[in-house]
Amino acid sequence: MTNDFHHILDGDRAQIGVGAVLLRRRAAGLDRDLLAAVEAVAGQAAFRHMTTPGGFQMSAAMTNCGAWGWVTDRAGYRYAGEDPLTGQPWPALPPVIAGLAAAAAAAAGFPGFRPDACLINRYRPGDRMALHQDRDEAGFDHPIVSVSLGLPVIFQFGGLNRTDRPRRIVLGHGDVVVWGGPSRLAFHGVLPLKDGDHPVLGRCRINLTLRRAH
Ligand code: SIN
Ligand code: FE2
Repeated sequence: MTNDFHHILDGDRAQIGVGAVLLRRRAAGLDRDLLAAVEAVAGQAAFRHMTTPGGFQMSAAMTNCGAWGWVTDRAGYRYAGEDPLTGQPWPALPPVIAGLAAAAAAAAGFPGFRPDACLINRYRPGDRMALHQDRDEAGFDHPIVSVSLGLPVIFQFGGLNRTDRPRRIVLGHGDVVVWGGPSRLAFHGVLPLKDGDHPVLGRCRINLTLRRAH
């Protein structure tokens, strides 16, 4: 449906932009370990619906692990070293997640990626993420690594201007997208999650977004 515009490099890898690569099912073999890690994180730092600066509730539930966690409230978007719900540092970045992110980044042409922030998004049917740029980090020299688990979703990957028509790419269980370099500030988002029943995650999609915040 959405693959016709991909420049396929090999079976599992597609260039979706300059400095942007889709690694199909790159994380599939690690799914149980990744989900166990997510569960452990959520046991310390619960999923919650954050509020945008404009006063709207994010439709995806979120938590974080790593030294820095992305948060939003009426005061704005930012990285915080502590979970505002508990006042405690975010749970440490689980090695399975950090290792996957580094390996995926290297495979996409960004060696030496050491993420210090992992945002975990949990989508239920109907939840979405409007087109946005990731620009709350201190610098943009490092790529973004995005790992999808559970129900498939339509990912929109656009250009550097909000008005650039985004590509639509179905992201399924284990798919990893890496974007950096000239694509680091590309607009992206996901369309509302369609209902379904995933064999591992049920009526749910989990996305891990790894970044270098500081
Ligand atoms: C995000 O941009 O924070 C999430 C994108 C996704 O869920 O795939
Ligand atoms: Fe994002």
